[in-house]
Amino acid sequence: MHDPTPANTPTSADAPAPADTPTPADAPAPADAATSADTPAPADTPGNAPAPENARTPPAAAGCPAHGAARQRPPALFDPRFAADPYPAYAWLREHAPVHRTTLPSGVEAWLVTRYPDARQALADARLSKSPHHHREQGAHGKGKVGIPGERSANLMTHLLNIDPPDHTRLRRLVSKAFTPRRVAAFAPRVRELADGLIDGFAARGTADLIHEFAFPLPIYAICDMLGVPSRDQEDFRSWAGMMIHQPGSPRGGVGRAVKRMRGYLSELIESKRAGLADGAPGDDLISGLIRASDHGEHLTGEEAAAMAFILLFAGFETTVNLIGNGTYALLRHPAQRARLQQAVTGNAGTAGTDGRTDAFLETAVEELLRYDGPVELATWRFATEPLTLGGQRIAAGDPVLVVLAAADRDPAKFPEPDVLDLTRTDNQHLGYGHGIHYCLGAPLARLEGRTAFAALFGRLPDLRLDADPDELRWRGGLIMRGLRTLPVAFTPHGGSTSV
Ligand code: HEM
Repeated sequence: MHDPTPANTPTSADAPAPADTPTPADAPAPADAATSADTPAPADTPGNAPAPENARTPPAAAGCPAHGAARQRPPALFDPRFAADPYPAYAWLREHAPVHRTTLPSGVEAWLVTRYPDARQALADARLSKSPHHHREQGAHGKGKVGIPGERSANLMTHLLNIDPPDHTRLRRLVSKAFTPRRVAAFAPRVRELADGLIDGFAARGTADLIHEFAFPLPIYAICDMLGVPSRDQEDFRSWAGMMIHQPGSPRGGVGRAVKRMRGYLSELIESKRAGLADGAPGDDLISGLIRASDHGEHLTGEEAAAMAFILLFAGFETTVNLIGNGTYALLRHPAQRARLQQAVTGNAGTAGTDGRTDAFLETAVEELLRYDGPVELATWRFATEPLTLGGQRIAAGDPVLVVLAAADRDPAKFPEPDVLDLTRTDNQHLGYGHGIHYCLGAPLARLEGRTAFAALFGRLPDLRLDADPDELRWRGGLIMRGLRTLPVAFTPHGGSTSV
């Protein structure tokens, strides 16, 4: 979604030493400070080998109060080890510094909010603006240190994640008229078709990189189809999207160029669809819906429609890649949970089809996968418009606030046994889709894609297993998103024809 690039955030490779603050000058040496460096790998073994499930983070790594030094000093944030497993560090912050000021590797100072109640409050607090105009450090946005990279040069400033009411209310109301749950539900067979087509592409091989061959293309093709991007142009989108998330070593301008090209393409497509509609074309795609949407006689301007189409694509792309990637990885590392899911999706005469009961189970399971290791680690940028107090901490006007969804969703005060993956967890008001007026607009589509992807994968590849040492897997560097770069898997090869 919202910040796919290494450009404005700590990438694993080149992140400077974390400059966390405030650390008491006389803090004891961090002999056993809670860094993920000290954290042993989770106890589950790769693949399907029976292994203890749901191993908890060892207390020492979480900053056990018994460890005096750990209590004093914040753990290292945003280094490669943190990226591999940020949860012990978040547990420390929740306990010792729930609203914590830090200097991000980009140099920008921000508050990290890690407890569930504070996070929920911050997400819905009207004193926290989404507009970078309220940032005390005005230059940061222009340099791509906050917000969506490339958005300024691509004339993309007015999109839902950058604006406050009343503009936000007006735009969201208009887009909601086009992007309806009914439109999403009607799209279900197409998503299944896309998922099966992608699996067909590697089924006969017996191995695959699930990120590149499945999790990455599925949401791109799905949203392109839904928007009404002709199939001949969808490969361009795939390559632009790849530039946005898959080339951490590529020049910084690469992301901006990709954003500009997408934006330019969408503007032209909107104009041609507008002309088509005037000539009586049926226009049942989402872009036509955006053009036609009206509220009390108001319509989206061409600029607004293009920005909206872009933000749907942008917000719905890397998020869903990570839902499928992180979710599959979690399932592969929790054999008993995976067996439950597998039974649910193959229980119907051995097919990968789903019925009502399966759907209900999958719905609950997808929510838990989102809570357990969700795609959006931090909500997008917010800026204090006035001095305020959050979780007992004073925050000055102009300060950036980042709500750590991943930390809030593991808050033991809200979720019993928060480090346990339990696909049957029903009392699960996680914040993975945000909260308040910016609550994810695409949640129905994301849920559909998640259910379909897991049903197709585990239904059609019943012995799917991890084909890599978990310690070797790399997570994409990036502040907002949490997702794997690759997910090598193996399975028994088969003919590749779909079972539904
Ligand atoms: C699993 C997948 C997804 C997750 C976890 C997710 C998560 C989120 C979160 C946390 C926010 C709120 C950000 C904030 O308040 O700072 C958000 C907003 C948004 N999401 Fe998603 N998202 C997902 C998929 C999608 C999809 C598929 C689409 C559309 C195709 C989409 C479109 C949007 C839009 C437009 C917003 C901005 C809403 C507003 O500001 O009013 N998302 N999403």
